[in-house]
Amino acid sequence: MNDGLATTLVTVDLGERSYDIVIGAGLIARAGDFLAEVAPARRVIIVTDENVASHWLETLETALTEANYQILTRILTPGEQTKSLTQIDTLTDWILGSGVDRKTTIIALGGGVIGDLAGFAAAITLRGLPFVQIPTTLLAQVDSSVGGKTAVDTRHGKNLIGAFYQPRLVLADTDTLSTLPARQVAAGYAEVVKYGLINDLVFFEWCEANGHAILDGDAAAARYAVEMSCRAKAAIVAQDEHEKGTRALLNLGHTFGHAFEAEAGFDDLLLHGEGVAFGTVCAFDLSHRLELCSGQEAERVRSHFTEVGLPTNIEGIANRHWTPDVILAHMGKDKKTDDGNLTFILARGIGQAYIDRDVPIDTLRALLSDILPS
Ligand code: NAD
Ligand code: GLY
Repeated sequence: MNDGLATTLVTVDLGERSYDIVIGAGLIARAGDFLAEVAPARRVIIVTDENVASHWLETLETALTEANYQILTRILTPGEQTKSLTQIDTLTDWILGSGVDRKTTIIALGGGVIGDLAGFAAAITLRGLPFVQIPTTLLAQVDSSVGGKTAVDTRHGKNLIGAFYQPRLVLADTDTLSTLPARQVAAGYAEVVKYGLINDLVFFEWCEANGHAILDGDAAAARYAVEMSCRAKAAIVAQDEHEKGTRALLNLGHTFGHAFEAEAGFDDLLLHGEGVAFGTVCAFDLSHRLELCSGQEAERVRSHFTEVGLPTNIEGIANRHWTPDVILAHMGKDKKTDDGNLTFILARGIGQAYIDRDVPIDTLRALLSDILPS
């Protein structure tokens, strides 16, 4: 682990579009220095939300003002509902009306909602504006700010309109986690565990030993988790930027999770990371039913998520009536379908995930019938 003030650099190696993820404390206050390396002009537009603005906007604006940047700021309503085409229309209209040019850098200061939305706006405005991510949730620091997936949700499902568009820099200031509500820390932690479950048993064991510390606000543990997660994600993105193969492993738990989120109505009833936690438990349950991994391993995954307070059954999520057919219908609309086949990330054991497009529908339906109360 690194000590307090040092920064850690993780590079996402994509040839001439390579960029650094800078991880450490106090980075927002030094944003002017970091930005000077990547911004083509001293003009920036900050996109953020009301919650993040109340804690971190002044620090960022002060840092950039001291470094002689011209700043415009757009503060949006927090929450998944903001990740919409309507908001893209409003935001891009405002950006164009502000006198933007191709050297104006868009900065996303916030969680995955702001990063995905502002990134998509940056991708399509003037056919591409320089883009910088300053992720402020654990989920955004370990996953969504890295790798260039940008998108909004539609009534047909999550993230269905979007673009691959890489940032020029990711500044993961771990101090921001100090103001994040505990439920959001736990939701982000689900994506941390994911990296261990995909291909790193030793990291999963570290999570079993240290997960509680992260949830209790231990800054060193959180920072190590961010660093390990970014290294794991950067390696996968460098191999397969556009998700032609390996990158799909990062969707462990997401075929189930997105379907649960869709049925929950994309609101606070079920946060994205909570859907991923329950979805990952389902993916290991399915792997066990298909005799790919042992019941003990599936149970070990469930136990860890349960211990840190993430939902691992439907009772933890909703008292409404969810049927297998409804969940299967949501899965069918997911963009991970391939020639009509659902794509699942299954596992031959902890740390041995693989992509499966041939899951027997009867086994899947039986699992859903068992986990959804009749
Ligand atoms: P979020 O952006 O909604 O943030 C969660 C909440 O925390 C919001 O209310 C926000 O205002 C608040 N918040 C953020 N930072 C804060 C801080 N430092 N202090 C206090 N409050 C703070 O949610 P999220 O979990 O960060 O992101 C979820 C989104 O990310 C989903 O839309 C999901 O689809 C997307 N996602 C994208 C990728 C990708 O690769 N692009 C990967 C994973 C998830
Ligand atoms: N969060 C999945 C990916 O970036 O591919």
